[in-house]
Amino acid sequence: MLGSFTYCNPCRLHFGPKALDDLAGELKTYGPVVMLAYGGGSIKKTGVYDQVMKALADAGKTVVELSGVMSNPTVEKMREGCALARENDVDLILAVGGGSVIDYAKAVSVSAWSDEDGWEKYFKRTTPIDNRIIPVGDVLTMSGTGSEMNAGSVLSSHSEHLKIGHVFGSDVIPQFAIVNPELTFTVPDYQMKAGIFDAFNHIQEQYFSGTDDNVSDYVMEGLMRSLIHSSRIAVADPTDYEARSNISWVCTWALNTFVACGKATDWEVHMIGQAIGAVTDATHGMTLSAVAPAYYRFIMPYGLPKFVRFATEVWGVDPQGKTDEDIASCGLDAMEAWMREIGVVMHASELGLTEDMFDDVVKGTFLLGGGYKKLTSDEVRSILKESM
Ligand code: NZQ
Ligand code: ZN
Repeated sequence: MLGSFTYCNPCRLHFGPKALDDLAGELKTYGPVVMLAYGGGSIKKTGVYDQVMKALADAGKTVVELSGVMSNPTVEKMREGCALARENDVDLILAVGGGSVIDYAKAVSVSAWSDEDGWEKYFKRTTPIDNRIIPVGDVLTMSGTGSEMNAGSVLSSHSEHLKIGHVFGSDVIPQFAIVNPELTFTVPDYQMKAGIFDAFNHIQEQYFSGTDDNVSDYVMEGLMRSLIHSSRIAVADPTDYEARSNISWVCTWALNTFVACGKATDWEVHMIGQAIGAVTDATHGMTLSAVAPAYYRFIMPYGLPKFVRFATEVWGVDPQGKTDEDIASCGLDAMEAWMREIGVVMHASELGLTEDMFDDVVKGTFLLGGGYKKLTSDEVRSILKESM
């Protein structure tokens, strides 16, 4: 491993069927006013809302509710949360939901006490945070993003056709996370599959970079193998606890900052996927599955040894009698077969993307260059065409 890094993840994570019992202990650390952020109402149907409200009442907290956080949360919604957090001088933001709610809580956490609009300052200009940060804790109800234990936050501005993710410092990572895999049993099938592919692609984004021998690559191969194995079980039986718990834990580790240590990282599939999301508002994980096959076929020649390793170590491709190109290509064939088997979206046209949107998508795609090849705008356009 040749990279240098500082590693700090301050999140205390409680995992398992009884994890919610640990919320009471966590709440003791914070002042009396808690902003409870949640989505479109799934937590009321599943009973998680009642359980969380009881813990808050038992802890003597004053609760300020912020409901209706949509998937792919918007800047307008973020501004609403900031005003509420300021008016009530909240001591903790408790996010109960999936990645959207937790990302949202982080955006409010950094922006509420900012002297200017947080979207402009922290997402568009990525200025370092210079104001009070409201602590965030979360109760995770859907696995995929890893937001429960990372500093990422993604916001959408539909009027600007922009969806921007920003990774803040470790002071924005939620201070605690409650992860009970049983809570994910009720996640709709489409969202479960999107979450699985999201996590798979988080690993790919960090795996397909660099040429040095790096412990993270070995860890990621194990994470991918576990996710592939458990995904097949969970698709057949979403209430299989063992499979869902492994998926939840892989999703957390796929993006809790650990495997990125000492590595350059790619993130170009996410850049294209987010740009598609900005114009279609499609489900995040499916925007990734729609473009990943075309992207990796295109990148393969530039990072061939790693694609050979991906084929043999993750997919068990037999290298005997094959050229490196054939081995690598068999790996991508196996990946695509698995994607079709579990049922993720394979074509961007299924997400409502049309060719007249390509200009906006190309314009909205940040070209990062951390992987095996920095794309040009024309290459983004041809990957989009291939993905339709
Ligand atoms: O809004 P509610 O009613 O809660 O319904 C949600 C939502 O409709 C539902 N759901 C969640 N848990 C449920 C449930 N329904 C029934 N039972 C449950 N237990 O599922 C739907 C999707 O939820 P959402 O939070 O939108 O999904 P996800 O976790 O995939 O989050 C997506 C957002 O995270 C961002 C994405 O761009 C997108 O905006 N990302 C965040 C990242 C990060 N923080 O590091 C990285 C990712 O790459 C990603 O970009
Ligand atoms: Zn993602």
